[in-house]
Amino acid sequence: MKSKKLFIKTFGCQMNEYDSNRIYDSVSKLGFVKTNNQSNADCYILNTCHIRDKAKEKVYHEIGRVKKLYRDKKKPIMVVAGCVAQAENEEMVKREPYIDIVLGPQSYHKVNDLLKKHMVNLKQEETEFDTISKFGYFDQIKNNDNKVSAFLTIQEGCDKFCHFCVVPYTRGPEYSRPFSKIISEAEQLIENGAKEITLLGQNVNAYSHTEDSKEFRISNLINRLEKFSELERIRYTTSHPKDMTDDLIDCYSSSHKLMPFVHLPIQSGSNKMLELMNRKHNVDDYLRIYERLKKINKEIEFSSDFIIGYPGESQKDFEDTFDLIKKIRFINSFSFIFSPRPGTKASTLEMIDKNLAKERLTLIQEELFNNQKDKNKSLENSIVDVLVENKMEKQNKLFGRNKYISPVIFDGDESHIGKVVKVKIQNSNQNTLFGLLDKKMKAA
Ligand code: SAM
Ligand code: SF4
Ligand code: F3S
Repeated sequence: MKSKKLFIKTFGCQMNEYDSNRIYDSVSKLGFVKTNNQSNADCYILNTCHIRDKAKEKVYHEIGRVKKLYRDKKKPIMVVAGCVAQAENEEMVKREPYIDIVLGPQSYHKVNDLLKKHMVNLKQEETEFDTISKFGYFDQIKNNDNKVSAFLTIQEGCDKFCHFCVVPYTRGPEYSRPFSKIISEAEQLIENGAKEITLLGQNVNAYSHTEDSKEFRISNLINRLEKFSELERIRYTTSHPKDMTDDLIDCYSSSHKLMPFVHLPIQSGSNKMLELMNRKHNVDDYLRIYERLKKINKEIEFSSDFIIGYPGESQKDFEDTFDLIKKIRFINSFSFIFSPRPGTKASTLEMIDKNLAKERLTLIQEELFNNQKDKNKSLENSIVDVLVENKMEKQNKLFGRNKYISPVIFDGDESHIGKVVKVKIQNSNQNTLFGLLDKKMKAA
């Protein structure tokens, strides 16, 4: 059978990246082979994100671009997957007939059937929340991802309903995969060469699965992964302060492989705003977690997500957020102006002045970026452990990450890929560290 070419463009969070890989694992059984050439595909998948801004319009814009690329060629099967597909469902096919298949995140197990049906020329839309069947299907298909640093979804969906957020509507209710299935998939990834596994979930630390009357939490997964001798590093994202339980905090003293870097979104440093956002935690809860973790290991660093200009944010609320950033010195964070999402509670609230929100964002980002630069600068002239991920395209250099997930670029040969090596940092900028392989030092 002649192979057919598949191009996947992925937007949004790490879970979308994981999903794109799993969709590929599935459709490869129909003879599709991934291509990097977006203008020469038989099937073109857009895996979309709906979290902010004009997500829907961006997708139609992308499709306009694809149309142009294929103007003089056979049209690819056009699939829109991900969170915009879920939110917009069959409306998309009505508005843009170029789209052949609309596929919501909990219907990915149906992708092969939909593609087969499409061959007989039907427009398709699947946006049911059928999470159990989805994972049941994918548990039967090997995960072929062969990256040094691999993603592994353990939990999906959200029951928290922060008033600004579209995720509970696009990913559905919280669901935790069976412990044993996650461990089997981790084994596959490790066999394929993974040295680092990042456990994924929209609320990854809400993971809870009962098997043989025993409740398994994310701490159990971390402790089990720790035992794989080939695995060097464990991470997880995105966590919620409310689910930062004692057993997970204890992992930071018991585990040698859990990285000392905690991405823990707070959104605002004002209790009033946290309440208005329906976050279910306050600033003191967050500070307690911070202090407990720092007590266990003072090298632990934090990063966070911030929403600036949420409806009702006063100058005082903004200053509270600024003060928190001064206190915690997050080394790496995401900050955005509030974007009203259709269907969410906050979408009907009165927005604050746009220019004021922009000014506040600039001030916050200046502080956050300075923290990031200072952290990187503090590592200059020191020797850091780097997990080498790949050789860089177009440059004869290696790319890896330090324990705080910062990119490190240095000279070295391909034999180092997949190893943790020592790199002497020579200089840095806000995002990246540059150094030399420390040949005297044995790889850790
Ligand atoms: N579950 C995670 C948590 O509760 O912290 C966050 C997951 S969400 C996919 C990632 C981030 O997107 C959020 O932490 C928030 O900062 C941002 N976000 C979500 N909705 C937003 C909106 N309407 N406007 C601006 N940023 C938003
Ligand atoms: Fe969205 Fe809040 Fe759920 Fe995070 S906890 S995914 S921000 S609703
Ligand atoms: Fe975006 Fe959906 Fe992830 S909205 S951030 S792709 S869960």
